[in-house]
Amino acid sequence: MAVERVQTIAFSSILVDTIPPEFIRSEKEQPALTTCLGCIPQVPTIDFSDPDEGNLTRLIAEASSEWGMFQIVNHGIPSEVITNLKKAGKEFFELPQEEKELYAKPPDSKSIEGYGSKLQKEVEGKKAWVDHLFHNIWPPSAINYQYWPKNPPSYRAVNEEYCKWVQPVGHRLLSLLSLGLGLEKNELKENVGGDELKYLLKINYYPPCPRPDLALGVVAHTDMSSITILVPNEVQGLQVFRDDHWFDVKYIPDALVIHIGDQLEILSNGKYKSVLHRTTVTKEITRMSWPVFLEPPSELAIGPLPKLINEKNPPKYQKKKYCDYVYCKLNKIAQ
Ligand code: OGA
Ligand code: NI
Repeated sequence: MAVERVQTIAFSSILVDTIPPEFIRSEKEQPALTTCLGCIPQVPTIDFSDPDEGNLTRLIAEASSEWGMFQIVNHGIPSEVITNLKKAGKEFFELPQEEKELYAKPPDSKSIEGYGSKLQKEVEGKKAWVDHLFHNIWPPSAINYQYWPKNPPSYRAVNEEYCKWVQPVGHRLLSLLSLGLGLEKNELKENVGGDELKYLLKINYYPPCPRPDLALGVVAHTDMSSITILVPNEVQGLQVFRDDHWFDVKYIPDALVIHIGDQLEILSNGKYKSVLHRTTVTKEITRMSWPVFLEPPSELAIGPLPKLINEKNPPKYQKKKYCDYVYCKLNKIAQ
């Protein structure tokens, strides 16, 4: 049976001005009831071109410990490269449904790659108001071009171009985060796979929703990655959880949103926090985002770094292979 895409459901929902019951979240989750309006604290915005490396390290380490999320400006990726990436992704999602289905994730596939609508095992049959496309963009040995859209024709070139620019940002972030833990610059990168570190691109497509007060895009989660580098479109929607409240993360033109993921929380033995986040949807407009997850190779075992643990600071996490971590997380099995 064909999987029903949220984009198709959204189209018919708009006509009747209501959404199917499986998209209505519980009262504990409904954004209209759980968003802290007028909240002042904001995830930090950091100038990545700051020539004072000590200062930059401190700001990034603080943001990663307190929020697990921050935005960077002056990151060095030309805005044209980002504009082209967004344009190509948008054009793909605007293709006729049959054409997008050519890239559908096969139902029996073990990999996450492909076009799809559901990620985690759903709690109480509830659904998220979002469709997505996943494919690896680095290293070359991890790329399966069958999941890269052929249409628009520019898709491959603009994604390769973005990949070229996002990698130095990823490496620099890992080296500053390493320094922030009192380690050598290259230590975190080496411990998340070195040259085998995978860059997995996801495109999220959140169609307009007649009841944005009741539905959620991606539900509350932490990313499994080491870090995530995200490009949003101009539509507000990302929220972060801190001190028992959900806060809007302000859209800043040209900024990249950086998330600390589970693997970095584990490696740092909890000094850096994997950030709990979710997304809301909008009544009349489509939100999109392009996160890139920096993932360890699947066979690499990740645990707290021995240098960061001692008698006073015993290991808080189990060491396990990344593929086993992912399996437990997606199937909601305790780690
Ligand atoms: C995700 C995610 C946030 C966003 O896909 O993991 O958190 O802004 N997306 O779309
Ligand atoms: Ni996420």
